[in-house]
Amino acid sequence: MSLFQLCIPTLLGTESIVANEVRNLGYETTEVIDGRVTFTGDEEAICVANINLRCAGRVMIKLGEFKALSFEMLFEGVKNIEWERFIEEDGIFPVKGYSLKSKLHSVPDCQSIIKKAIVSRLSEKYGVKWFKEDGAVYSVHFSIMKDVVSVYIDTTGDNLYKRGYRAQATGASMRETLAFAMIDMSFWRGDRPFLDPFCGSGTIPIEAALYALNIAPGKNRHFAAETWKNHIAPSLWKDIREEALENENKEAKPFILASDIDSKAIEIAKSNAKKAGVYDKIKFKVSDMRDIKPFVDKGVIITNPPYGERLMDAKRCEKLYEAMGKKFSEFEQAKKLILTSHQGFEKCYGKEADKKRKLYNGMLKCYVYQYFK
Ligand SMILES: C[S@@+](CC[C@H](N)C(=O)[O-])C[C@H]1O[C@@H](n2cnc3c(N)ncnc32)[C@H](O)[C@@H]1O
Repeated sequence: MSLFQLCIPTLLGTESIVANEVRNLGYETTEVIDGRVTFTGDEEAICVANINLRCAGRVMIKLGEFKALSFEMLFEGVKNIEWERFIEEDGIFPVKGYSLKSKLHSVPDCQSIIKKAIVSRLSEKYGVKWFKEDGAVYSVHFSIMKDVVSVYIDTTGDNLYKRGYRAQATGASMRETLAFAMIDMSFWRGDRPFLDPFCGSGTIPIEAALYALNIAPGKNRHFAAETWKNHIAPSLWKDIREEALENENKEAKPFILASDIDSKAIEIAKSNAKKAGVYDKIKFKVSDMRDIKPFVDKGVIITNPPYGERLMDAKRCEKLYEAMGKKFSEFEQAKKLILTSHQGFEKCYGKEADKKRKLYNGMLKCYVYQYFK
C-alpha cells in the first residue's frame, strides 16, 4: 500500500462536517480550510472515503504543490510529477481547474500548459509521441491560489452527491450532500420523528433514511479509480462494499414523513426512494404544509422551502413563510432547520433564529435557520 495525501473538495460551509466524517472513518485530517479537507490515507482509504462519505464532493490524490510565476515554472513543476505512476499509456487525462489571486490567471492557458507538461513527461517515459487516450480516465485537477499551484488526480468521477438514486429531479432539487449537511447539523440520529413538508424529489428524507439505516451513500455507484489498472485491486472495492453492507442497520425503524403540495413531486420522491432502497422507511403524503398534523414528541423538521426565486414569486413566498412560522410553532417540541436564500426570512417567519449557518446551494448564498424549539 502507498500513502497519499487525499484532498476532498466540499461545499462552502460544510468543511467541519466533512472533517468529522473523515475522522469518524478512522483517519486524521491534516488540513481543514475553506472548501477543502485533507487527510493522509492509502488505497483502502480511497475506497472507504468514496463509498462512505455523505457530505464530500470528491476524493482526489494530491500529486504536487509548487510556486509558479510564469508558464515555464508551471510547465517544469508539472513535468516533475511522476505521472507515469498513475496514468497508463492509453489513459485519458483531461485537465481542469481554477486560478485565484495569481499571476497566471488565464485558466485555458494554464490547462493547456499542464496538459503539454504531462504529455512531455509521459512521452519520455513511454517512448511515444502521441497518446490515443482511449483507456481509463485520470482527471487532472489543479488550483492556483496566490501563485501556489496544487495538482491532483481525481479518484471519484461523477461528483459524490450523485448517489445514483435520483433518476428524477423536480425543478429546484438540492444536492444530496447539502441535504445531508442539514441532517448532520440537526443532530438527528434516526431516533426521533422527522418531517420534511416541502420534500420535492425527496432528497432530504431519502438522505435521512439512508443515514438512519447506515446505508453507505456510494454503495450502488462506481468510481473513476475502479477502472484504473494498476492501483487499487478490484477486491479492495468489493471488500469495502461488503463491509458497508454488513454495517447496515436493517432493523432500524425511523419515523420519517415527507410531504409536498405537488402530487407529481411526491411521485418522483417515491420513485427515488424506491431506487435508494428506503421506500418502506418513509411515509409520503401530498399535502399543503398548512394542513400537516403536528407530531407531539421531540423531533425535527428539516426542510428546503421555495426561495421566491426559481419556484414562486417573492410576495407569495413571504406569505408562505408567514404561514410556516404559524404552522411550525404547533410542533412545540421539534427542532426546525430551514434552508433559504431569502434575505427577509426571519421577519416573514415571525421569529429570530436561535442559530444561523451560511451555506451555498450551488452558487446561491443561503442560510440554514435553526430553531431549537
Ligand atoms: C425548493 S423545492 C424542494 C426541493 C427538495 N428539497 C428536493 O431536493 O427536491 C420546494 C418544494 O416546496 C413545494 N411547495 C410549495 N408550496 C408548498 C406548500 N404550501 N405546501 C407544501 N409544499 C409546497 C414545491 O412543490 C416544491 O417541491
